[in-house]
Amino acid sequence: MNIRSLLQIKRRLPFYLAALLLAGGALAAAWWKTQYAWRDGYGDEDMSYFTQADPRALSGGDMTVFHTGFQPFAQSPNNLPWQYEAIFEDGDGIFDKNFIPGDGTTASQVSNVGGTRRRGLGPLFNASGCAECHFRDGRVERPYASGDEMLGMFLRLSVPDGKGGWKPPEGYHHQLHDRAIAGVPPEGKGHIDWEEIPGQFPDGETYTLRQPNFRVTDLAHGPLPADTIIEARTSPPAHGGGLLEAIADSTLLGFAEEQRNDPDEVSGKPNYLTDPGSGKRVLGRFSLKANEPSLRAQAAGASFNDMGVTSPIYRHEGCLPHQKECAAAKHGGTPEEPELSAKQLEDLTIYLQLLAVPARRNLDDPMVLRGEELFQQSRCNVCHVDTVKTGDTHPIKRLRNQTIHPYTDLLLHDMGPGLSGRPDGEATAQEWRTPPLWGIGLTERSNHHTNFLHDQRARGFQEAILWHDGEAAAAKKRFMDLSREERAMLIRFLESL
Ligand code: HEC
Ligand code: HEC
Repeated sequence: MNIRSLLQIKRRLPFYLAALLLAGGALAAAWWKTQYAWRDGYGDEDMSYFTQADPRALSGGDMTVFHTGFQPFAQSPNNLPWQYEAIFEDGDGIFDKNFIPGDGTTASQVSNVGGTRRRGLGPLFNASGCAECHFRDGRVERPYASGDEMLGMFLRLSVPDGKGGWKPPEGYHHQLHDRAIAGVPPEGKGHIDWEEIPGQFPDGETYTLRQPNFRVTDLAHGPLPADTIIEARTSPPAHGGGLLEAIADSTLLGFAEEQRNDPDEVSGKPNYLTDPGSGKRVLGRFSLKANEPSLRAQAAGASFNDMGVTSPIYRHEGCLPHQKECAAAKHGGTPEEPELSAKQLEDLTIYLQLLAVPARRNLDDPMVLRGEELFQQSRCNVCHVDTVKTGDTHPIKRLRNQTIHPYTDLLLHDMGPGLSGRPDGEATAQEWRTPPLWGIGLTERSNHHTNFLHDQRARGFQEAILWHDGEAAAAKKRFMDLSREERAMLIRFLESL
């Protein structure tokens, strides 16, 4: 190499350096993007339809979907990065497909046959897959009729423990398992007999409500004590869970504070429980009595209690000491290598966190708008809080700082003796969590029925409201005092959610 070319290189050095830096920068950016940037939950697509949309329609903030098909509760949000889309698909696969009984093998003992392993159903269970109960991620497909097998519904049982608390009846789980794998006796069969109760509005219009009466037959482990309290719980829809998880504890406690000295004596209360994952005392927010603290705990609890599938949170099969056939049955895992792997539990959790919320509809219908005013004037929104802002700590950034319209305070309310069930954590028998109402107007489209409340007793919106009592008695009375047309408008509003 001669002096001239050396000088040339020297002259061009800044250019080479700049090119090197640029290439390095581009590489670093690409690396950042594949490793980290997608974790905020946003892909590269245009999001202008959000800024152009009527803000009142955005029930789930950036997690709202404008889906017009038949699965409004089963959608991932638009513009999800492909990495999350892939996890969502994996989680969807676990949610949608049924599990099969174990054959004594664990995942690592069998060569990978492709797809997700779904072994380990039972020995005792209520259904073989999440979607068997949460049809299209919503409620049950077919509501319960007297004498039917219970699908998407189960009985929970409690007896007094003699120390002021409660325990499961001797010989049984707190959740009656009405199904089991071959060779194992189910614990019993639950039945509901409906009893019609007539009623009348002040304007003379009549209605009937139906009150459930419970029976348990085919009991495998002896009769239930006479003081057993029985309650039926039916599957609520699963959409929007990530946003509910992202609401700060302080926001929920703030609602309880605001409700102190409420003129209607509404007094929401948080349910505190021990997180089965961390062992810490935490605020409950999922399930009908806010008896689960997080979607991970909910997913593991559902797998274990409803399907008999073990996971990193519940590693041991739930056979009671005297349930010999249950203990002797073949499993799909071991305590060290549970039936649902850590990865599967994570995929399922992220799936639940990313389930989007359907947009509100019919916002230019004057009946809907008048119905909304009547909802507020009746003070339904003290519990069914219309606007909430999520906190800023959720691991998925897209769920943070979202303005959402969930129509819930996620707190427990005493709903009176008519809706009494069994106690759960710090929730008394009569206390239930305010259920979110977002998307409720699409129940019929998704699930082919409009049966509501914790045990499906309400055949439509009006019956659901008429069962309200206790802390909600004043709001119910205001609804009853409306004219027939106004009541219809309030229901039109609920249908727009
Ligand atoms: C046998 C029917 C059944 C099966 C199977 C089932 N669920 Fe549920 N699910 C319910 C019922 C009933 C509740 C309310 C439980 C309660 O109040 O304790 C519920 C509650 C939930 C909630 C809470 C929703 C809310 O509003 O807080 C989520 C999320 C959920 N289930 C997800 C799942 C997942 C994931 C699976 C599968 C691993 C699953 N469920 C399997 C019936 C079922
Ligand atoms: C004191 C709090 C409170 C007030 C006020 C209240 N609700 Fe509720 N609402 C609840 C609770 C708690 C439940 C669940 C009860 C159950 O499942 O047994 C519920 C259930 C519902 C449901 C059924 C939801 C479902 O997913 O099954 C509808 C619809 C509803 N409320 C509408 C209304 C309307 C309309 C008003 C005003 C007239 C109102 N609520 C006032 C707490 C309240």
